[in-house]
Amino acid sequence: MQTPRRVEHQQTDRGYVPVYATGVVEQPWASYSPTDHAVWRTLFERQRELLPQRACREFLDGVAHFGLGEAGIPKFEDLNRVLGRATGWELVAVEGLLPDEVFFDHLAHRRFPVSWWIRKPEQLDYLAEPDLFHDLFGHVPLLLNPVFADYMQAYGRGGMKAFAIGPQALMNLTRLYWYTVEFGLIATGAGLRIYGAGILSSKGESIYCLDSAAPNRIGFDLERVMNTRYRIDSYQQTYFVIDSFEQLFEATRPDFTPIYARLKTRPPHAAADVLADERVFQHGTREGFAANADT
Ligand code: PHE
Ligand code: CO
Repeated sequence: MQTPRRVEHQQTDRGYVPVYATGVVEQPWASYSPTDHAVWRTLFERQRELLPQRACREFLDGVAHFGLGEAGIPKFEDLNRVLGRATGWELVAVEGLLPDEVFFDHLAHRRFPVSWWIRKPEQLDYLAEPDLFHDLFGHVPLLLNPVFADYMQAYGRGGMKAFAIGPQALMNLTRLYWYTVEFGLIATGAGLRIYGAGILSSKGESIYCLDSAAPNRIGFDLERVMNTRYRIDSYQQTYFVIDSFEQLFEATRPDFTPIYARLKTRPPHAAADVLADERVFQHGTREGFAANADT
């Protein structure tokens, strides 16, 4: 990657961090507190208990390959040696959510931005913005999978294109990310498994997405997904199921420009909708769903 240009040091509420022109910072590994490492261990332990029968094999393989675990918060530098050799991806430490175009540029260059700070002990079950546990534990293991690694880069390139086309296209593409990279399920011979990072970093949703009768579980269809609103304030009302990462990669290979044009003329589906003629793994009971807060 390019060498980030340091523009200033900045006192933030998470400590004193160097800020670069690109928004990339150094992971301040030495300044993590014992509490920070304990939060990592607690979250990691909980997911280790839960995920063997729930996460897809590719994710579990990735966790094992990196040797994530009790040692506490990993050093990005160590992970980068493994990751670089496997798929050429690189983790970069950031303060948090990035502007869309900056995020896309990172992905397009096989750099994955990871928030360097971890949540507080009182936020184990929920926080509103992505922290290190979500970004690292949720997203990074699958970057060792060659097909998924290529999908993420293609998404970044597609993002730059959608950004240039306009806000509607960007919304369609964001929904795709949400329902695949963040909240995707995959069908395997042993049943449905999780690959979405938003689920994998959440104990509650790791159980809910597979066990609850409330949400829909529906076969992945590109345009359907890109035209479906979603929830940011609750567990998902619908999960979309892919058959393989190859299927996902192939479905997203065509030029999206005509798709964006087509979707402009169609009203979006609500998060809880089930349409005629789709592949329904589960038609949810909707129990406990709140109405009218789709994004
Ligand atoms: N094929 C998409 C386009 O032309 C790019 C893309 C690839 C988007 C993979 C998402 C995932 O815009
Ligand atoms: Co995420």
